[in-house]
Amino acid sequence: MLMVHPARRIILGGMSFGKPWDQNPITSEQVREANLAIDAAIEAGIGTIDLADIYTNTKAEQVFGQVLKDRPDLRDKLLIQSKTGIELHVAHNGSNRYNLTCDYIIEKTDQILKRIGVKYLDMLLLHRPDPLAYPTDTARAIDILYQRGWVRSFGVSNMSAPRLNLLNSFTAQTIRANQLQFSLGHCGIIDDIVEVNTDRQALVGNHGLVEYCMLNDISIQAWGATDKGRFCNPISETTPESDKPIITKVFALAEKYSVEPIAIVTAWLMDLPMRVEPVIGTISPDRIKAAAKALCFSLDREDWYDLWIISRGRRLL
Ligand SMILES: NC(=O)c1ccc[n+]([C@@H]2O[C@H](COP(=O)([O-])OP(=O)(O)OC[C@H]3O[C@@H](n4cnc5c(N)ncnc54)[C@H](OP(=O)(O)O)[C@@H]3O)[C@@H](O)[C@H]2O)c1
Repeated sequence: MLMVHPARRIILGGMSFGKPWDQNPITSEQVREANLAIDAAIEAGIGTIDLADIYTNTKAEQVFGQVLKDRPDLRDKLLIQSKTGIELHVAHNGSNRYNLTCDYIIEKTDQILKRIGVKYLDMLLLHRPDPLAYPTDTARAIDILYQRGWVRSFGVSNMSAPRLNLLNSFTAQTIRANQLQFSLGHCGIIDDIVEVNTDRQALVGNHGLVEYCMLNDISIQAWGATDKGRFCNPISETTPESDKPIITKVFALAEKYSVEPIAIVTAWLMDLPMRVEPVIGTISPDRIKAAAKALCFSLDREDWYDLWIISRGRRLL
C-alpha cells in the first residue's frame, strides 16, 4: 500500500488517447491502451483524468467514453475534467482560433458530455484566452453551466494573472485551477519569483501569476510536466550538450531516493509551496506508476535547489 501525501495530486493527461490525430473511427486497440493507462493510474493513486474536446480530433474523449461505457464503476473512481475553447485549424488556413464566447462554450460542453457519456464534468477548463471574447460573456457561460448542473467546478488554462482576475471578477463561481506549461525544463514562473528588477526580468514576464494563484487558492496544473521524458532517458548520442548535466543530476537523485528519474522531475514540481498538480502525458502503465511514486516523497531542500540551478543554467546571486 502506497503512503500518498494527502496534499499531493497528479493528473493523468489523456492527450494521447485515440492517437493519432486523424478522422478515423476509434479502434479497440486504442480503448485497450486507455484501459491499461487508467488502471495503472488508479492503482498508483492518481484519481483525475484530463481531456479536451480537441484532443486527437475528439477521439480522446470518444475513447474515454467507451472505457466508461464498458466499466461504469470507473465514474466513482475518477474525477473527469475536460477543456474547450480552441477551434482546430482545419477550417482556418493553418492556424487555430480561440473561442470563449458563451454560446460556443455551452454548445461544446454539451458535445463533451455526450461524447464521454456523463451527466456532468467534475471540472471544465477554458483552454486558451480568447482576446475577442468579452469576459462578461465567458463568465455567463460558467454560471449557466453550473446552474444546469453540467459542470461542478471550473478552471482555465494558459492564462495570465490579470486575465484570470478579470474573469474571476465577473463570475459567481470560483476559478479553481490554471493549467500551464510547467516543468523542470520550462519553469519561467519560478524565475519570475526571484528575478526582480534584474537584466533577466524582461525575459520572464509572468509577474504575479504564482502569487495570484496562491492568494486565490487556484492550483497550478502543470502540463508537459515531464518534458516528454527529456531528462528521464539515459544520455545518448543525440542528447544535447546542455541537457547532459541535468540528466546526470536527475539520475543521481533517482538513485539516492530509490525511484525512477520520472519521479524526480515530477516531485520537483510538487515540492513547491503553491499547489502544483503535474499533468503527466505518458500512457505507458510502467511510466505512470513510476511517476506516481512522486506522491510519496519530497526532495531535500538542497537537492531541489541543486536541480533547479543546474536546469536554469545560471547560478543564483
Ligand atoms: N492545457 C494545455 O494547453 C495543454 C497542452 C498540452 C498538453 N496538455 C495536457 O497535459 C498532458 C501532458 O502533456 P504532455 O504530453 O506534453 O506531457 P509530458 O508528460 O511532458 O509528455 C508525455 C509524452 O512524452 C512521451 N515520452 C517519451 N519518453 C518519455 C519518458 N521517458 N517519460 C515520460 N514520457 C515520455 C510520452 O509517450 P508514452 O505515452 O509513450 O510514454 C508522452 O507522449 C496532456 O496529456 C494533456 O492532458 C494540456
